[in-house]
Amino acid sequence: MADASTVAELVNISVDGRPVEVPPGTLVWDACEKAGIFVPVYCAHKKLEPVAVCRMCLVEVEGLPKLQPACATRVAPGMVVRTQTEQVRKFRDGNLEFLLLNHPLDCPVCDRGGECDLQDFTQRYGPGRARSSITEKVHFDKAVKLSDKIMLDQERCILCWRCVRYYEEITGEREIVLQERGVHTVVDSFERQPLQSQFQGNLPEICPVGALTHRQYRFRARPWDLRRTASVCSHCSYGCNIFVDAREEQIARYASNDNPEVDDSWLCDQGRYGFPELNRPERVINPEARVGGLRQAVSYQDAVARAAGALLRVRGDHGGTSVGVLGSPRMTNEEAFVLQWLAREVIATPHVDHRYEPLEGISPEQFRLGIAELEGCDAVVVIGDRPERLSPVLTLRLYKVANKLGRQILRVPETFSAAQVVKQLPAAGRIGIVAAQADRAAAMGLRAKAGSAGREAAVLTITEAVNSRGCQDLGLLPNVGPGYRSLEHSGLFGRQLLEAAVAGQIKALLVVGDGADFEAEGLFHEALAKVDVAVVVTAWQGVASRAATVLLPGRTIAEKAGTVTNTEGRVQRVRTAVEPKFTFPSDLRILGDLAAGLGSDLGVQALAAPVFELLAAAVPAYRGCQAGLRAHWEPGS
Ligand code: SF4
Ligand code: SF4
Ligand code: FES
Repeated sequence: MADASTVAELVNISVDGRPVEVPPGTLVWDACEKAGIFVPVYCAHKKLEPVAVCRMCLVEVEGLPKLQPACATRVAPGMVVRTQTEQVRKFRDGNLEFLLLNHPLDCPVCDRGGECDLQDFTQRYGPGRARSSITEKVHFDKAVKLSDKIMLDQERCILCWRCVRYYEEITGEREIVLQERGVHTVVDSFERQPLQSQFQGNLPEICPVGALTHRQYRFRARPWDLRRTASVCSHCSYGCNIFVDAREEQIARYASNDNPEVDDSWLCDQGRYGFPELNRPERVINPEARVGGLRQAVSYQDAVARAAGALLRVRGDHGGTSVGVLGSPRMTNEEAFVLQWLAREVIATPHVDHRYEPLEGISPEQFRLGIAELEGCDAVVVIGDRPERLSPVLTLRLYKVANKLGRQILRVPETFSAAQVVKQLPAAGRIGIVAAQADRAAAMGLRAKAGSAGREAAVLTITEAVNSRGCQDLGLLPNVGPGYRSLEHSGLFGRQLLEAAVAGQIKALLVVGDGADFEAEGLFHEALAKVDVAVVVTAWQGVASRAATVLLPGRTIAEKAGTVTNTEGRVQRVRTAVEPKFTFPSDLRILGDLAAGLGSDLGVQALAAPVFELLAAAVPAYRGCQAGLRAHWEPGS
C-alpha cells in the first residue's frame, strides 16, 4: 500500500466522469487505461517514447480548444478528459477513413487478418462505407523481402513509425527508415539492404497492421485457428516469456509475453524462430525393449518393468556405483529433482549429471544480481561477449541501461586485470558484473576486488540452457546435492562417467531427456555401445534411442508441464502447449514408475505440483517460491 507521502503526490483527474489518481507526469493514455477506459492508438507503444504522429488517440481536455493526443499529453491536477464525445467520435471516424483511402483491400490474404488494429478500429470506430470516389489508389511495393525472416508490404503501412523508433530506441541499429514525402512516404530498410539485426522478429509484433510480417508464419494460420499457451522460451537460460501458438498439435509461432523483469517484451530471433526444432518428426513414439537380442515394441508397463529389472540386476551384481545417470538441462525442475533422488536414494549411485563438461566451484552467490536489477546499477561490467551470445536479449537490457538510463557499461575481455577494471569504475554506487558461467571465477574475483575497494558489487552469471540453473539448484550434479549441499562423496561428472563406462567400470546407464548435450560426443556413442544396460527416456530418435536396451518415449519441453528456473533464479512455469502423438505417461511419471519398479516410493503423486512441494521442502530457497518469482537464496547459502 502507498504511504501518505506517496498518496499526497498523486494527481487527481477525471476520465469520462470516472475519477482516477495517477503520479504526476503520467500520460493521459495511461491514466485512461487505469480508469478502465480504452483509447485506440497506432503510433503509441508502451516501450517507446511518444511521437503523436497518427492522431488516433485524440481526446477532449476541458479548457483546451483542440483535441489532444492522449499518448503525448501529461496529466495535470483537476484535468477533465473525455474520450467519447461527438467531436472525438467524428475525428476517429475521419482519421480511419483517411488511413483507408490508399490501403489495399488485403484483409482476406493478410497474415494479420483477425489481429490487426486497422481492422479492429475500423470495425469499432470507423466509417461503415467509403465516401471517396478514388478508384485508383496510390500503390507501393508488396512482398518486399527485408530479410530471410521479415516481409514488408509497403501498401499496408500506416506510417506509425513504430518500426523506425524500435530500431532507434530499443536496439540502436537503425535498419529501417522512412523515405520520400507526403502521400509517397514509404517505410523501407536502409538502401534496401537486408536486415541483419538478431532482434528483427520483434518488428511484426510492434507493427499494428500487416505491413511487417514473419516469413516463417506466412499463410500458415489465422489467429482463430491457434491455441495460445503462456510458457517460457526454451532456447536459452534467460527465460523470456512467450506465448506458444499451436495449430493441430504443431507449434505455428512464438509470440512475446511481456515480462518487464526478464525480457521487457522483446525476444531474440534465435529463440523466436527456433521452435521448428520441436516440431521435428523424428520422435520416439513407442516403448521398446531388447528381447532376445532384438529390439521390439512392448507395452509401457513391460518397458518399465524391464528397465527396473535390468537396473536392479546391475546394482545387485556390481553395486549402485556401477550405474551412471544422465539428465539434461532442458528437463523441468520437478524432473531434475526426482532424477537426482532416483540416482542417489534409489539406485544408490553418486554418478549423476546433466551436462558433459564438469562444473565445479558453483554457488548461489554467483547469481545474486537479477536481470532487471541491472537498471539499478551505476555501472555494469560485462566480461567478454559470451553472456550476450548465450542470451541475446541481454543485449537489449544492456542497451537500455546505457542509452536510456545513461549508466556506464564497461566491456572487458575474458582475461583482464581486476585492479585495472576497478580503477575505471565510478567512485561510489552499485556495480553489476555480468559473466558467462565459464567466466564465473573471474567475475567473483572482480567482485571481491571491487568489494575491497569499497564498491558494492553483485554478479549475474549466464548459464547455458533453459534449465541449467534449475538443474544446478536442485543438485543434478555429482559434486553438490539439492540447494548446493556439499556431499560426503562426489560422483563422476558427465564426461568422466562416460569414460568410466567405456573402461567397463559403469555397467548401466540411465539417460533421461533430450540428450542434446551428449549426442554430439563420440564418447557417448562408445559408452552406450559398451554398457550392459542402457535405459533411455527421450523424445528424439538419435544415438541414445538407437542404443537403448529399454526405450521409453519422452516429451519435448512444449509437451510438458512444470517449472524451470532462469539464469537469475526466477522460477517460471512451462505449460503443455501441444500434445504428443502418444498417450504414454509424462517423463515425470516415468521416473516415478521406475522408482516404484526399483522398490521406492516418491511419497507424492508424480505430478508437477506435488513434486514442486517436495523439492521446495528440500531446497529452502524454493520454499514458498511462487512461479514468476526469484528463489530467495540467503547470503552465504
Ligand atoms: S511498417 Fe508497420 S510499424 Fe512500420 S511504420 Fe508502417 S505500420 Fe508502422
Ligand atoms: S534470449 Fe534466450 S530466452 Fe530470450 S528469446 Fe532469446 S533464446 Fe529465448
Ligand atoms: S497514438 Fe497518439 S498520436 Fe498516435
